[in-house]
Amino acid sequence: MHEDTDFDPPPIDTETPSVARMYDYLLGGTDNYVADRVACEQLLRIVPDTRALALNNRAFLRRVVRVLADRYGIRQFVDHGSGLPTRDNVHQVAQAVDPSCRVVYVDNDPTVLAHGRTLLDEDDESTLFLQADMRRTDDILDRPLVREMIDFDRPVAALFVSVLHCIPEQDDPKALVRRVAAKLCPGSFLVVCQLVSDDPSVREGVTRFMAEATDGNWGEVRPREAVHDFLEGLEIMPPGLMEVTDWHPDTEPRVLQSDDFIEYGGLARVR
Ligand SMILES: C[S@@+](CC[C@H](N)C(=O)[O-])C[C@H]1O[C@@H](n2cnc3c(N)ncnc32)[C@H](O)[C@@H]1O
Repeated sequence: MHEDTDFDPPPIDTETPSVARMYDYLLGGTDNYVADRVACEQLLRIVPDTRALALNNRAFLRRVVRVLADRYGIRQFVDHGSGLPTRDNVHQVAQAVDPSCRVVYVDNDPTVLAHGRTLLDEDDESTLFLQADMRRTDDILDRPLVREMIDFDRPVAALFVSVLHCIPEQDDPKALVRRVAAKLCPGSFLVVCQLVSDDPSVREGVTRFMAEATDGNWGEVRPREAVHDFLEGLEIMPPGLMEVTDWHPDTEPRVLQSDDFIEYGGLARVR
């Protein structure tokens, strides 16, 4: 693994829950602290199916990467908001299809870089880890190390899996998706899913809780129309945008969850 940090990473703050470590806890990982675990338990009281939702989301990530590599022949991936390394990271899933696959991981949480260092193989030339805020996508995708890893004249899959709800409306997540799409050649893909609810009280309750818990490192739970809006003008690939457990379901068992708090999204192609 290469790594690239162009700013002094902030120290790891173990007192303030982080989205990356809370997600790790929900997935059954051990790279989290008491504050993260307490926040998750509080969140589970508001939306009890959040653990099932996280597990189902991670299964979607595995499926969509496999489909991209296998069915659509994608060999280059940029994973925005990659999260803490766990089993079946994007490069492992993609390289099971073709060992030549290359992956750039981007995450702004310093814990992710620290654990990425220890868990990813440092000699691996096929992965690059960037500790960076994906809102600065122009800078990120133009970095020399990224340009060495990814050939932007060939199709790329840009992943935004379970991360756009971390971007508040004033930072214009739609424009962020647009800027990334504009950098990719035709035949490239975007994967987008985020937390949605049709129930305004769930949207407001979770958004308020997460913003307070993470000290403002949060965006919002949105209505599902927001995901359609993010991908407007791109070619939505079959089977469409949906609750992610329904997207190309395979034999992997899904965890039962309710319908009022879901990860919603799918795959879109750059024309
Ligand atoms: C819920 S996790 C999702 C991890 C992985 N994409 C998955 O679906 O399994 C969200 C991740 O996005 C990261 N993140 C949040 N805001 C970000 C930003 N502005 N730039 C880069 N990463 C961000 C968090 O640190 C966290 O690791």
